[in-house]
Amino acid sequence: MKQTAKAPANIAFIKYWGKSDAALRLPLNDSLSMNMSGAYTVTTVEFSVDFHKDEVALLGGEFSDHEVFRVIEGLNRIRGRAGVKHYARVVTKNTFPKGAGSAASASGFAALTLAGFASLGSRIPEKELTIFARLGSGSACRSIPDGFVVWEKGNDNETSYARSLFPSTYWDIRDVLVIVDKRMKKVSTTEGMETVTTSPHLSSRLAAVPPRMAAIQQAMNEKNFVRFGEITEEDCLDMHRVMQTQNPPLFYWNEATERIMSAVKSWRNASLPVYFTIDAGPNVHLLCEGKDEARLLEMIKTLRGVEEVILNKPAEGAKIISEHLF
Ligand code: DP6
Repeated sequence: MKQTAKAPANIAFIKYWGKSDAALRLPLNDSLSMNMSGAYTVTTVEFSVDFHKDEVALLGGEFSDHEVFRVIEGLNRIRGRAGVKHYARVVTKNTFPKGAGSAASASGFAALTLAGFASLGSRIPEKELTIFARLGSGSACRSIPDGFVVWEKGNDNETSYARSLFPSTYWDIRDVLVIVDKRMKKVSTTEGMETVTTSPHLSSRLAAVPPRMAAIQQAMNEKNFVRFGEITEEDCLDMHRVMQTQNPPLFYWNEATERIMSAVKSWRNASLPVYFTIDAGPNVHLLCEGKDEARLLEMIKTLRGVEEVILNKPAEGAKIISEHLF
């Protein structure tokens, strides 16, 4: 049976950077994110006795050999759990540039996991789906549940999973993703995390995350946007400090990134409540409340070096949809 899933990318306010177990993709710390309405992956999966090998295609682009390998490993895990041996056809499509620090692997593995199990007719509880998605790419577990999501780091395969903290309708936060470079990042997240323990700042970040997780959840309970934004920015800068002090150091920002970061500060001084967060790439996520989005978009027009802007509201998690890609 053919099944298609649509899964959102997610933006982390408290970030995942570093693993305690690379094979299981167990993270060193808890993280917290929001699903993005404007950046998602659609994937159709079909398993059949008539297929003689796995076939994996990306519409409008090309997967590297390594990416195909990761998808096939994901299919193997799904086959193992469902107790079948058939090969599969996988066709996938992203609405946003792959590898540019906007988490295509997160939406990709979330969509693959949901569509894969559904196409085999397996009913898997949400918690277990998040565990299977995590094994493909850590942050993918956060693209399965609804809205605002916590990934509990856990201490083994069964206890490291994601759950919804608030539904997508809870708070009208906007994430305006400002793309300043669409190319693939030079060092993948998986590779970048391998040397995380070489940073002298890792231990202080890991100590800071638990109180930060508590503080941001409190700010979200109170819908205190300023506090929420301050904590988000603090954790972003903390993660990048770890990255930049690893050996070899990882610098994901470019000139346009830094220009936007300083513009955000001046916009705040001009009473526009906006905060930034940045993943493993140069593109900047600008966070504001719905009431301030129009003003923020006017400000973004004054920036140099912007290639594209993607508007996001909080989105639901991964869903089965009825239109197939083949
Ligand atoms: C910087 O989930 O892409 O975006 O588990 O190795 O596939 P792997 O890493 P991935 O890492 C995402 C890192 C980040 C921060 C975050 O999204 O929490």
